[in-house]
Amino acid sequence: MNIMRVHAKLGRVDTDRTDALVILLSEGETLSGPDGSLLDEALGGALRELQRSREFEGKAHEVILLHTHGKLPAKRLILAGLGKHHQLGLDQIRQAMGYAVKRVRQAKAGSFTVVLPSAVPRGASMGDLSQTLTEGAILGNYQFTAYRSEPPTGKGVSTMTILVSQKSHLGPISEGVRRGVATAEATVFVRDLCNHPSNVMTPTKIAGEAKGVAKDTGATLKILEQKEMERLGMGALLGVAKGSHEPPKFIILQYHGAKKKDDPPVVLVGKTITFDTGGISLKPAENMEQMKADMTGGAEVLATVRAAARLKLPLNLVGILPVAENMPGGRAMRPGDVVTTLSGKTVEVQNTDAEGRLILSDGLAYATRFKPAALIDIATLTGACVVALGQFAIGMFGTDTKLKDAIVSAGLRSGERVWEMPLWEEYFEQLRSDVADMRNIGGRGGGMITAALFLSKFVGDCPWVHLDIASTDWSERERAYIPKGPTGIGTRLLIQFLINRSLPHESARA
Ligand code: BES
Ligand code: MN
Ligand code: ZN
Repeated sequence: MNIMRVHAKLGRVDTDRTDALVILLSEGETLSGPDGSLLDEALGGALRELQRSREFEGKAHEVILLHTHGKLPAKRLILAGLGKHHQLGLDQIRQAMGYAVKRVRQAKAGSFTVVLPSAVPRGASMGDLSQTLTEGAILGNYQFTAYRSEPPTGKGVSTMTILVSQKSHLGPISEGVRRGVATAEATVFVRDLCNHPSNVMTPTKIAGEAKGVAKDTGATLKILEQKEMERLGMGALLGVAKGSHEPPKFIILQYHGAKKKDDPPVVLVGKTITFDTGGISLKPAENMEQMKADMTGGAEVLATVRAAARLKLPLNLVGILPVAENMPGGRAMRPGDVVTTLSGKTVEVQNTDAEGRLILSDGLAYATRFKPAALIDIATLTGACVVALGQFAIGMFGTDTKLKDAIVSAGLRSGERVWEMPLWEEYFEQLRSDVADMRNIGGRGGGMITAALFLSKFVGDCPWVHLDIASTDWSERERAYIPKGPTGIGTRLLIQFLINRSLPHESARA
């Protein structure tokens, strides 16, 4: 998809020539601010009248469009509600922008202008605001049209301009735009990869995408093929791949942004199952098509490495993707099979549908070789995560309090929030096997927890966080800036975490 262009420029709402001017207002916010009264005056009091008649109250989700009939250089004025001021956070702004951009598109306007809202969440800088506006607009404008003869909702909006009143604000606002474009573009990249069907987005194609990332960022790329995996002893990943005709891949992308080349890196590991049938422990037919997005974690890792490189973040970063397709072919792994993982630990595969933890066990064991300063894996790991958390929280587990805190605050900042779950050793009794070091399923209770605990056996003593995104990776309905289907949620969380970590002065706020 073509990404909306976003830029900031000096200008005034009453003189700017545009297809549409977007104003974000909180509930009950009067239009007495400088922009509001200028506009109201130009429109002969129409705005005050709209408020008086309560046709526009500033509630969240509310959007209204007025034609200006030449009274303003802007052809249309769009008011979007932010909800109650005391509940205002960055995500309310992102959402209002998502609704606004859809209204712009509905009006078939190709470009629009917006000003920073005068209602500001506590502690938010101008850069935060412009980053958020940019994210809401680009993400709300997203459509996946690769396989359509005609896009169902017309062409997307091509340009957004943020109007800036003072020259000295231009710098910080433009920096926010730059970040917003990077995080939104990364999310769009992930949504696209997840939307492509699995007959296209094969392990080989994922490797091709990784080559693309390496090429346009200068990151170093290594792709291990099956032979090499056999030599190393990645029995878990190979076991999962055996049922498919698609050869597995093991992808390692390295970005060096730190001053010191040997600074311990952040290592990201993403579950990349290009399709999960369940294998011999076959899944039911209903909703199985959603398993084309079982590579979301890996796509997010690719996108994050790309974004970090584009933003030139001063840190070293490694992205690792164990990639396979989980199919029930003639050579497929059987329930009861024992595999030897890269770590040397053996696993009894009691259920071939618990394949994510298998490929991740090899991914994580490989990751420890980099002696990571922080190790994070991200995966559409368990149906139990969906049951426990619904659609609005990512499941988080981890061994390091500081790292967990940093992820929590990146979650609040990005609107991709995490919720911590227990990683208690007591649960390990559910993973005991009669024949091997452990089994790959933990029985009835606490399915998200036993999956995480399984992974914990492969991370050594690295500071580690596991993110289960099975709850958030797919949306049942369209929301303000989240489409129906693959959401890409987790991408902005990871990038924000890296921004906060590598540029602490510029992002002091949580
Ligand atoms: N990819 C699935 C988890 C999943 C389910 C993601 C629903 C998104 C939505 C994973 O590989 C899986 O099948 N997990 C099993 C594990 C079980 C066999 C222990 C599950 O959750 O049912
Ligand atoms: Mn599965
Ligand atoms: Zn899976």
